[in-house]
Amino acid sequence: MSLEYAVETVNLTKVFGNFKAVDNLNLKIRKGEIFGLLGPNGAGKTTTIRMILGLIKPTKGVVRVFGIQVEKERRKVLKMTGYMPQRFSLYEDLTVEENLMLYALLYGYNRREARERVKELLEELFLEEFKDRLAGNLSGGMKQRLALAVALVHKPKLVIVDEPTAGVDPPLRRYFWKYFKDLNKRGVTIIVTTHYMDEAENCDRLALIFRGRKIAEGTPLEIKRLAFGGDIIEILLEAPSPPKLEGIEGVKKILESERYNGTVSIKVLVDDASSRLISIVKRLESNGVKVVRGSQVYVGLEDAFIKLIGEQAQ
Ligand SMILES: Nc1ncnc2c1ncn2[C@@H]1O[C@H](COP(=O)(O)OP(=O)(O)OP(=O)(O)O)[C@@H](O)[C@H]1O
Ligand SMILES: [Mg+2]
Repeated sequence: MSLEYAVETVNLTKVFGNFKAVDNLNLKIRKGEIFGLLGPNGAGKTTTIRMILGLIKPTKGVVRVFGIQVEKERRKVLKMTGYMPQRFSLYEDLTVEENLMLYALLYGYNRREARERVKELLEELFLEEFKDRLAGNLSGGMKQRLALAVALVHKPKLVIVDEPTAGVDPPLRRYFWKYFKDLNKRGVTIIVTTHYMDEAENCDRLALIFRGRKIAEGTPLEIKRLAFGGDIIEILLEAPSPPKLEGIEGVKKILESERYNGTVSIKVLVDDASSRLISIVKRLESNGVKVVRGSQVYVGLEDAFIKLIGEQAQ
């Protein structure tokens, strides 16, 4: 048992009928990180989350939350965790404020404390002016804010948000991420699922899930490197023909080279762009090649994921 992890799953598996929704999943989510669970529709993200929270029983495997085995001490785990589900599941015939009060009281606050906490959350999530509106009459973005507020009522140290920004407009999406980062700075571990790759870039680490299995794990940078086998740099030279780059330290592969009007543009796969770009440029210059410019080619997570999933699907 390790106490450095907020969540640890060991061989976590869920079978529905004869369909394996989650297949031997091993995750180690560190305390204090923002961890992204990514994967296409039906990959098993929500099922994994529900097992982490003890809402459904694993077919096989173990989940520990802050070292506590979920199946054995479910109530303890529920107290430490906040959950914003993928589908709105609050009381539609209660107002915003009533929903929050209800949960605050359920979590054991007395009336005065509950009122204070609810006021705080109404302010933080800009729900003050809608507090008397029935939850059922809220817009999509307001519902998401209320669902997040409810997940945070009891100040959990682990917050799991399942597609919090689905159907949310860009300014609110940005606010949500700012809010997650603030929470995270206050020591809260966050697990998030999203289909927006620009959001996934905000995570400290990610796991890519496909057909119930983990096919990649790491920081956004590590995952991109894994997908492409390194970083890509592009160098523009004044030369009649491409110079020899093979054999230079850090160069893994010449991906592309194009001649145009006395210049050559080359795309090179290297092990680490931040350190190799300068050394390669220097090396070329010392060989008498005039380098016009050199830069790292930005690779999006989306490209990386499509590549990794494409390899698995074959
Ligand atoms: N209670 C259930 N009974 C039968 N099959 C289920 C059940 N819950 C989930 N599944 C199936 O398990 C698979 C994984 O579902 P899950 O909801 O975990 O995917 P997801 O990664 O969250 O997808 P999405 O991105 O669409 O939310 C799907 O094929 C789904 O139909
Ligand atoms: Mg889901």
